[in-house]
Amino acid sequence: MQHKVPAGLDHKEAEVYRHLDPARLPKHIAIIMDGNGRWAKRRHMPRVAGHRAGVAAVRSTVETAARIHIPALTLYAFSEENWKKRPKSEVDFLMRLLSRYLKAEVPTLNKNNIRLEYIGRQHELPQDVQERMAWAREATAPNTGMVLTLALNYSARSELVDAFRSMVNAASQNGGIEHLHIDEDAVARNLYTRHLPDPDLVVRTSGEMRLSNFLLWQLAYAEIYVTPTLWPDFRGVHLLEGIAEYQKRERRYGGLNHGEAPRRIDVDLGKVHT
Ligand code: FPP
Repeated sequence: MQHKVPAGLDHKEAEVYRHLDPARLPKHIAIIMDGNGRWAKRRHMPRVAGHRAGVAAVRSTVETAARIHIPALTLYAFSEENWKKRPKSEVDFLMRLLSRYLKAEVPTLNKNNIRLEYIGRQHELPQDVQERMAWAREATAPNTGMVLTLALNYSARSELVDAFRSMVNAASQNGGIEHLHIDEDAVARNLYTRHLPDPDLVVRTSGEMRLSNFLLWQLAYAEIYVTPTLWPDFRGVHLLEGIAEYQKRERRYGGLNHGEAPRRIDVDLGKVHT
């Protein structure tokens, strides 16, 4: 397969990209970033050093995904469980890291035409972090390229609970509960991810074979790629390796042959290059 390699890929990335079929890139990739603590432990460093090192992995992955024109990338930055069950000092560190990342990265996101979105219970995050998030979202809102969604204080079960609550509330304000109509499209339209197509590929780093309460509804037909690489060591080239593995799979969506994806709600990714 010989095709043009997008500008900006490094030598190793270009090598993997050359073997990909550009017509069959995933439209949405979701990543469970895992292994920061183990990365730090192996180096006899505090856990937070792993989170700090994880930012370079985020930067590389986001830039490579944008360069090859992936329309949507979603990163599981931290779960509701991380938020509630980890020591306050670690959570505070993650909050500061996120705030700093947003402030520092907005110019690069704009340069790469990337629009920022969030999923998760944002209203439970510290006020100053919420304000920084809103600022970064607004600053990148006009961008028409990749949609980068950060899952923050996210839980798939809470997302489903919130979706059911919002359907019931909408019905009770619109003529009463007898007007409640629930089907798959209605659920999908009430998820935090209503701005996105379902992921085609979910990547998990550090070798764990779990979904950990991430996008349980949306990942119904996703291909799962698990790499032993710990998140702080993950780079754009590893993302491309995951896509290469994805392209080897036969997607059947419950049918017998190469199938059509099940009907999904229409999503508006803006003027995304596909
Ligand atoms: C999982 O590793 C990682 C997290 C809970 C935090 C993810 C945060 C980052 C990658 C950095 C900041 C992110 C952004 C978007 C700026 P773990 O601590 O569970 O690792 P372990 O399983 O080895 O203990």
